[in-house]
This record gives sequence, C-alpha cells and structure tokens, in this order.
Amino acid sequence: MIRPSAILLSLIVLAGLSQGAAAADAGQGGVLAKRWCAACHVVAADQQSAGGQAPPFSAIGKTADLDVGKLALFLLLPHPKMPDMNLSRAEAADLAAYIQSQGR
Ligand code: HEC
Repeated sequence: MIRPSAILLSLIVLAGLSQGAAAADAGQGGVLAKRWCAACHVVAADQQSAGGQAPPFSAIGKTADLDVGKLALFLLLPHPKMPDMNLSRAEAADLAAYIQSQGR
C-alpha cells in the first residue's frame, strides 16, 4: 500500500531536485528558526546560547556537503531528540535556506 505521506515525500524530493532552493525564502526561515528552533539551537550570530546539545545553525550551514533539498526533507521527518514540528514543505525549505545562509 502506498501511503499519501510517501507520495508527498517523493514530490518533495522531486521538487527539491528540479527547483533547488529557488523558491525558498531564507528571511522567512530566520523568523521560523527564532520562533521554533532557538530553544535548543543557536540559530543566529547574535544569539548567546541555547539549552541542550543541538549543533548551532552556523555549524550545520558550514557542512561541506550540505544539500538544501536533503536538509529540508530531514526537517519534515520526525528526528530523535527533536520534537516533530509538523512543518509545511515551504517552511522546511525556508528553514533549510536560512540554515545554509548561516554557514556563509
Ligand atoms: C527540543 C530541542 C530542539 C528543537 C526545538 C530543535 N532541535 Fe534541531 N536538534 C536537536 C538536537 C538535540 C539535535 C542533535 C540530534 C542528534 O545528535 O541526534 C538536533 C539536530 C538538528 C539537525 C541536524 C544537525 C546535523 O548536523 O545532523 C538539524 C538540521 C536541526 N536540528 C534543525 C532544527 C530546526 C530547523 C529546528 C526548528 C524548526 C530545530 N532543529 C529545533 C534539538 C532540537
């Protein structure tokens, strides 16, 4: 049986491959990051510290083989130690673009 979520994920991957980060809005991603991620991650250069052992976004953004499409996909999947954020596809793409921008 093919689950709707599997179809959705395939579409996300295809969209990521064809469009890259073109449609993503890093500025909006920054707003989301400060709202939802800053409790555990240092999400911006002017943030002093965060609780927990989560890597700062600048470090994630500097990952040599960072793939924004994969990052957005990762953000849509539940991850151990991280709450399921129920992000929309657009929100995940914006956040991925923002994280990438923090590595520059
Ligand atoms: C409740 C704390 C918490 C929140 C909130 C949180 N994270 Fe995380 N995140 C973590 C932890 C802890 C890890 C490290 C997981 C591990 O080592 O397995 C992590 C890992 C990650 C990674 C993978 C880093 C890597 O190098 O593998 C990404 C990307 C990420 N978080 C993005 C986000 C984004 C985007 C948000 C906001 C939408 C967010 N996180 C909110 C705790 C959190």
